[in-house]
Amino acid sequence: MAQTFPTKPVTIVVPFAAGGPTDVVARVIGEAMGRNLGQTVIIDNTTGAAGTIGVRKVVRAAPDGYTLSVGHLGTHVVNGAIYDKVGYNLVTDLEAIVMLPSNPMLVVSKNGLDTKDLKSFVAHVKANQDKLSVGTAGVGSASHIGGLAFQAATGTKLQFIPYRGTGPAMQDLIAGQIDAMIDQTSNAGPQVKAGKIRGYAVTAKVRSPATPDVPTVDEAGLPGMYVTIWHGLWAPKGTPAAVVARLNAAAQAALEDPAVKAKLADLGLDSPAPDQRSVEAMKAFHKAEADKWWPIIKAAGVKVE
Ligand code: MLT
Repeated sequence: MAQTFPTKPVTIVVPFAAGGPTDVVARVIGEAMGRNLGQTVIIDNTTGAAGTIGVRKVVRAAPDGYTLSVGHLGTHVVNGAIYDKVGYNLVTDLEAIVMLPSNPMLVVSKNGLDTKDLKSFVAHVKANQDKLSVGTAGVGSASHIGGLAFQAATGTKLQFIPYRGTGPAMQDLIAGQIDAMIDQTSNAGPQVKAGKIRGYAVTAKVRSPATPDVPTVDEAGLPGMYVTIWHGLWAPKGTPAAVVARLNAAAQAALEDPAVKAKLADLGLDSPAPDQRSVEAMKAFHKAEADKWWPIIKAAGVKVE
């Protein structure tokens, strides 16, 4: 089977809503992977419970390489320390395929707040903590991790509103239904550039080329509040090594595709370095991230509200 793989379309399960940051990574990479594999790559948005429902669907799928799981630091590491009853282990019940691009986050608010920069936004948050609504994709999602980092850096307590992904949360932010978000650059950047929302800071040491006018957290007044969200692709445990290797080769080809590179750069997504693109590198990185984060999240007592 491994020699002829794939003989039919491959499905990538995105555990969040269409139009959001995980969906965008899956569609950009998946489309190019499909060209390399000679098969269509179908995107299946199975949403809910901060991505755990979509990940479980893949854990339980046949280990034949035709059903894959895309996700990030939240869905494939942090959730493992928060959701006790999901019935899977993120490290031992999945086969790593490849590391996918990463991006920092943007602290953003709806237009129309009486704020002009990060300092005045933080002052506004402090004065309105009980009523300021902050959109997330659920407890443990990337936007929630960003929110927790913001709370820790500012000594505030945010009112988190969970969505099935930050695609729909962003629509509500643009419409003024919620007040703020800490969301990935790939999702928030285009809206900041279009003037539909306000961007205060990027959670990285350097500005994002996708939003060069938005200062870093160091420049804007929350020094050191760095958050990077990396993505990855996995198959169910027991998928043959040759099939995993074929999928890894297709993903590596996608990352080298000039049109993919241009699209990722436009969205502020950084591709993994060449020595991080092997199956072994992703496997080791994923385990190291779980070993690093699980004790921290458990000790912090992050719970599903
Ligand atoms: C999404 O695709 O909606 C996001 O990755 C959600 C998040 O984790 O913040």
